[in-house]
Amino acid sequence: MTQQARPKPSIPLTADAFADHQETAVYWLASSTILLNSYGTNILMDPTLMFLHDDDQESMVSEVLDDDQIDYMKFLVRPPIFASELPRLDAVLLTHADVDHMGPRSIEALAAKGNIFHGTPYVGRILREQGVAEEQIVTHGIGERFQINDITVETTEADHPWQKFFPEVYDYVYKPEDCCGFKFYCRDCVIWNPGDSLLLNSHFHHQDADLIFMDYSEDPTACHFGQKDAVLLSNYYSDQDIIMYHWGFYDAPTVGWCSADPEVIRPQIVRPQRFRVLTPGEKFVVFSLPKTKCYQSVATRPI
Ligand SMILES: [Fe+2]
Repeated sequence: MTQQARPKPSIPLTADAFADHQETAVYWLASSTILLNSYGTNILMDPTLMFLHDDDQESMVSEVLDDDQIDYMKFLVRPPIFASELPRLDAVLLTHADVDHMGPRSIEALAAKGNIFHGTPYVGRILREQGVAEEQIVTHGIGERFQINDITVETTEADHPWQKFFPEVYDYVYKPEDCCGFKFYCRDCVIWNPGDSLLLNSHFHHQDADLIFMDYSEDPTACHFGQKDAVLLSNYYSDQDIIMYHWGFYDAPTVGWCSADPEVIRPQIVRPQRFRVLTPGEKFVVFSLPKTKCYQSVATRPI
């Protein structure tokens, strides 16, 4: 029987998470869903925070369709908050249009509250198809910078052409300009979410980050970092905090992008105390630390 790592039960998110505490904090909310609160500016990334139906509390069926587009996946753990319970945020950012990054019910709930969505032009197209109003959609090219209050956000390169492995199901393969990561230049720190991507040369150009989100998939058809890539990148940035995400949230032990286990790679991580496995809903305050080892990492850049 295939074992699947799962997070601890979620810590419910309260209004305090959205208040200004004169600091920058992040919360891992669900598989790929992250909340960033920097001095009271709240940015949500890649929301999948709803059941398929409101009465699915017992069955735990999520709004996320499986790769075959047949069945909806079950949550292994309840999200710490549902999209319908969120206050209006300063921005909702979407790395790409996969359903595990923009759950349709979450998007609907967030749109109804007047949130503004940011993503690539392809993401914008999908939002329009889902009925989001034009004035709530802002699109960006790769490498573009934009402002959310006093946070400068930069879209970073990603490559995630997983549909090429399933031509019988999908007739469109993501182009590099369709997917991105996000880098946040906050008042007191720099945070980088690479998004779902194969490992790229440019992923080694983020030495100024203080915190990096990380995942891996053993399945090459998922077009994520592989396990070796995740270890390599984590150790290349050996001064940075690393938070594991995009794991353990859906009951799908045989699905590659659901099956990462942080404890499998922890023994390979240099300075493992900076390798963070959060409980969903747990607050993590980000600090900007002096970087002394980044350019002398034990890992050497292979590409
Ligand atoms: Fe994903």
